[in-house]
Amino acid sequence: MGQAPLAAAGVTPNDEALMEQGVDLSDKAVVVTGAGRGLGAAVGRAAAAAGAAVVVNDVDPQPAEECANAIRAAGGRAVVHVADITVWSQAEALIERCLHEFGKIDGLVNNAGVHLPQHCWEMDEAKVRKTLEVNVLGTLACSARALKAMRAQRFGSIVNTTSGSQMGHEYRPDYGASKGAVSSFTFTAAVEMKGTGVRVNAVSPNAETRMLDDLDKFMLARGEWQRPSLPPPEHNVGMHLYLLSDLSRHVTGQIIGLRATGELYIASHPAILLPTAKAPQGVWTARAIGEAIDQGLVASLQPLGFKRLRQPIVER
Ligand SMILES: NC(=O)c1ccc[n+]([C@@H]2O[C@H](COP(=O)([O-])OP(=O)(O)OC[C@H]3O[C@@H](n4cnc5c(N)ncnc54)[C@H](O)[C@@H]3O)[C@@H](O)[C@H]2O)c1
Repeated sequence: MGQAPLAAAGVTPNDEALMEQGVDLSDKAVVVTGAGRGLGAAVGRAAAAAGAAVVVNDVDPQPAEECANAIRAAGGRAVVHVADITVWSQAEALIERCLHEFGKIDGLVNNAGVHLPQHCWEMDEAKVRKTLEVNVLGTLACSARALKAMRAQRFGSIVNTTSGSQMGHEYRPDYGASKGAVSSFTFTAAVEMKGTGVRVNAVSPNAETRMLDDLDKFMLARGEWQRPSLPPPEHNVGMHLYLLSDLSRHVTGQIIGLRATGELYIASHPAILLPTAKAPQGVWTARAIGEAIDQGLVASLQPLGFKRLRQPIVER
C-alpha cells in the first residue's frame, strides 16, 4: 500500500523497522480492542502498516483517535469505534461496525484488559468484578459476535490475550484467573470452530506499558521493588500479526508467548497426566486417594506457579 513516511506520525526509525513484519494483510479487516494505548496501539499500527484496515477500539476516545490518526498519517486505513467491551451490546456493535465498514471481519484482536494488583487474602469486590468483566466478559462478548460472522464467512482469526499470570503469580489472583479463563476459552472456541476455516489462538505478551505503572504503585507501597525491564510493545506485535496472517493458517488453539528476556515460547495446555490410577475397591475413598498419591501419583504433582516452585511447598 502507498504509505506516507511513518515519521510524519511521530514513529521513530526503530518503530518503523519493527513494523516491517514480512506479512501482507492488505486484504484484511481487523478489529483491535483497547487499541488506544500500549500493546493494542502497537498492534493496530503494525497491522495497518502491513496493509490491514483497522477498527481501532478503546473505551477512552482520545487515545483511540490518536492511534487512528497515527495510522492515517502513515498512509494506513483506520476507523475509530469507541465502546466499552464489557457491555455486551457495545461489543456486538463494535464487530458490526467492522462488518458495515469493510463488509467482513478477518481478524479480531481481543487485547483490552486491566490489571489491578492485590493479594488473594485481601481481594476487593470492585477490583475483581472489573478485572473479570473487562478481561473475560469483554473477550467473550466481542468473540461471540465475531465468531458468528466468521463462521458464516468460513474464514477469520481471533487473537486473544492471555498472560503468564494464568500459571500462578503473586499479587494477581483475579487477573491470573481471568487470563486462565481466556486461555480456556481459546481452547474451547478452537475446538468448536474446527473445520470451519476460523482459527482461535492467544498471545501471552510482555511489554513496558502503563500496566507496569499500576504494579509499580502497588509494589512500592509494600517496600523494596525493582521494576522489571520489559520489551517495548512493538517487540510483541509479530505474534499478533503472525496469528492474523495466512502464515499461521495451520495453527489454532495455541498460546504463543514472549518472555521478558525476548524468548518466544508455546505454552502447554492443561492435560490429564499419565499414568492414571484405578480404584482398588472400584470407588475412590479419600484414604485410597491419599495412598494412590503417596505411592505413585506423587511424581505427577506439578511445580507451582509461573516460577515453577518445587513440590512439596508444605512440610509434612
Ligand atoms: N504489558 C504486559 O506486559 C502484559 C503482559 C501480559 C498480558 N498483557 C495483556 O495485554 C493487554 C494489553 O495490555 P497493555 O499492557 O497494553 O495495557 P494498557 O493499559 O496500556 O492498555 C489497555 C487498553 O485497554 C483499554 N480498555 C480497558 N478497558 C476497556 C474496555 N472496557 N473497553 C475497551 N477498552 C478498554 C484501556 O483504555 C487501554 O487503552 C491486556 O489484555 C493485558 O492483560 C499485558
